[in-house]
Amino acid sequence: MNYRHAFHAGNFADVMKHVCLVALLRGLSRKDSAWCFLDTHAGAGDYDLGAPPSQKTGEYRHGIGRLWQATGPLPDALTDYLNVIRPLLGNDGTLRRYPGSPLIAAAVARPQDRLIACELNPLEFATLGEACRGHGPITVQQMDGYQALKAYLPPRERRGLVLIDPPYEQPGELPRLPRELLAAHKRFATGVYALWYPLKDEGPIAGLKRQLKDAGLRRILQVELRLTPLVQGGMLHGCGVLVINPPWGFAQQMATAMPALAAILAPGSGQGRVDWLVPE
Ligand SMILES: C[S@@+](CC[C@H](N)C(=O)[O-])C[C@H]1O[C@@H](n2cnc3c(N)ncnc32)[C@H](O)[C@@H]1O
Repeated sequence: MNYRHAFHAGNFADVMKHVCLVALLRGLSRKDSAWCFLDTHAGAGDYDLGAPPSQKTGEYRHGIGRLWQATGPLPDALTDYLNVIRPLLGNDGTLRRYPGSPLIAAAVARPQDRLIACELNPLEFATLGEACRGHGPITVQQMDGYQALKAYLPPRERRGLVLIDPPYEQPGELPRLPRELLAAHKRFATGVYALWYPLKDEGPIAGLKRQLKDAGLRRILQVELRLTPLVQGGMLHGCGVLVINPPWGFAQQMATAMPALAAILAPGSGQGRVDWLVPE
């Protein structure tokens, strides 16, 4: 387990994923009844953009750095995301930190909602525990995110979002995903699931989508952001989030937000795309 999210925090993929995250939780919050957020691969929770990992790659400058400086009116989902993360970026309004998914979800949560953040790497887990302190009712667990699906689903609230955001560093990760997702869906069929995936070599991702489709799952939305339409051998040129059971209105929100985000992050070449892999 060599992956450290600190090298990538706030990059285009984080921004895209977290725009989806905020909009999904807002969708669940339309009803007063409580929701549960399960973050299977939570990361370190909070990242110092001035620290060597961020400074070494500079990836955040092409992600949150660009959106932060964008001028002119933005689609509602982008404005909402920026409003949620603004208090978490550093106390002088400049880009000094970037929040991870548990802190972003905690910022959207209402008193009745519940959050569970799982992280397997002991060092990342230690930082996660520190980062979550004082951010509301987040239970942090050092455990395998796929075990967490078995342990925590269905949640007692019977409403919720499961974010599955693996690092894709192990060869067996991608083949494992459809199996784990289908098993989770059996336990909690009405849950909302968001699975982040990289767009490098698109063949294996197409295989994953085919397996979910062939398994008979309904209501699968794909939200994708490409910086460049060209597939460059092995380079991360885009990413996507597969959303099962998206809340009402989410597809339309993303259909407006993703092309706008693509135009800001990659002027001239960026593309945002939202469509149903399997409709209602
Ligand atoms: C892409 S990062 C998570 C980023 C985070 N979700 C966010 O949006 O801020 C993936 C994390 O998964 C952790 N990880 C890897 N394998 C895991 C597993 N089987 N279970 C739980 N966490 C795992 C890695 O240590 C890493 O911190």
